[in-house]
Amino acid sequence: MITLIAAHDKNQLIGGKNKLLWHLPKDLMRFKKLTSGHPIIMGRKTFESIGKALPNRTNIVITRNKKWNYPDVLVSSGISEAIKMANDIDENIFIIGGAEIYKQGISYCSNLEITEVHGVFKGDTWLCSYKNDFFETSRESHEIDEKHIVGFDFVQYHQK
Ligand SMILES: NC(=O)c1ccc[n+]([C@@H]2O[C@H](COP(=O)([O-])OP(=O)(O)OC[C@H]3O[C@@H](n4cnc5c(N)ncnc54)[C@H](OP(=O)(O)O)[C@@H]3O)[C@@H](O)[C@H]2O)c1
Repeated sequence: MITLIAAHDKNQLIGGKNKLLWHLPKDLMRFKKLTSGHPIIMGRKTFESIGKALPNRTNIVITRNKKWNYPDVLVSSGISEAIKMANDIDENIFIIGGAEIYKQGISYCSNLEITEVHGVFKGDTWLCSYKNDFFETSRESHEIDEKHIVGFDFVQYHQK
């Protein structure tokens, strides 16, 4: 099973200046819980934004740069190769961004784990459209509280 996991605002914005736009501890905890123990596939820019290999997961980074490498990271030259590498490790695979890799990877995905952030933010990177090809299967809402400056929904989708 290949799952795309992403958080976006009301306009499907996911980032700006190669950074996330919000700090939502519950979302980070959910990301960790879902992805731990499984391979995660990401673009080189997202990896640079995180700045390190995420622990307890096989980190696969896609780049065109044949010289690029980083400790504890598997490097791939494209999405299909990255998926093959991940398949050799585990049957549950997560595509974790960013926009370029979501766009190239979404057609391989049966499931989406989307965090719908309730606000409208400013940034430069958007998630590709997905609502024509996936249907909502569950939704869990979280309101603003002392640790979350904006409300959000965890929404699961399955391929139509
Ligand atoms: N909100 C969220 O859930 C979420 C999640 C992840 C990321 N983000 C945000 O998304 C932004 C980054 O997204 P992005 O679209 O700019 O970058 P990205 O998808 O993370 O990485 C793009 C890079 O991937 C490599 N690449 C892409 N297509 C390739 C191909 N076909 N073959 C080989 N390599 C390929 C290239 O690396 P090289 O240039 O090295 O060749 C390219 O520059 C950041 O703002 C980040 O914070 C948000």
